Amino acid sequence: MKILFVCLGNICRSPLAEAVFNEKVRLKGLQNEFQADSCGTGNYHVGDEPDHRTITCAVKNRIPIHHSGRQLTRADLENFDLILAMDSSNRADILKLSDLHHKTKVKLMRDYDPNGSGDVPDPYYGSEKNFDEVFKILDRSIDGLITELIKSV
Ligand code: 4NP
Repeated sequence: MKILFVCLGNICRSPLAEAVFNEKVRLKGLQNEFQADSCGTGNYHVGDEPDHRTITCAVKNRIPIHHSGRQLTRADLENFDLILAMDSSNRADILKLSDLHHKTKVKLMRDYDPNGSGDVPDPYYGSEKNFDEVFKILDRSIDGLITELIKSV
């Protein structure tokens, strides 16, 4: 199963989500069942490595992170089985690119958050504290996501 995490810049939230997902799946021995990637709806950071604050946050939480920024394409909507938007604005931008039969693949990351719903807040203009909050939301949402996905493999 192929899963795509999507935010705006692809340097803060979605590469962290991809890295957290990959590490959790690896720890469960399920790495052969899933392929994860991330991208941005915008093109501001194509080719860039994750934001240094994202890398600090990942390292602090012992999550390996390697990603080069890229922009969402129409082909992604065909190629991936599940497309997870970090916030409702990302979701609206994804849906603009989608054909009708792709729309059911598009979900919000926090649809899987056992503690709530809504947006994974954009930490780009924030502080380390905002990145820590994003990590906590992703950590529990991705646990919820993996629980759901395991039911279908
Ligand atoms: P991300 O955060 O969408 O979580 O990667 C952002 C990164 C860059 C920008 C906005 C949000 N930007 O405007 O450059």
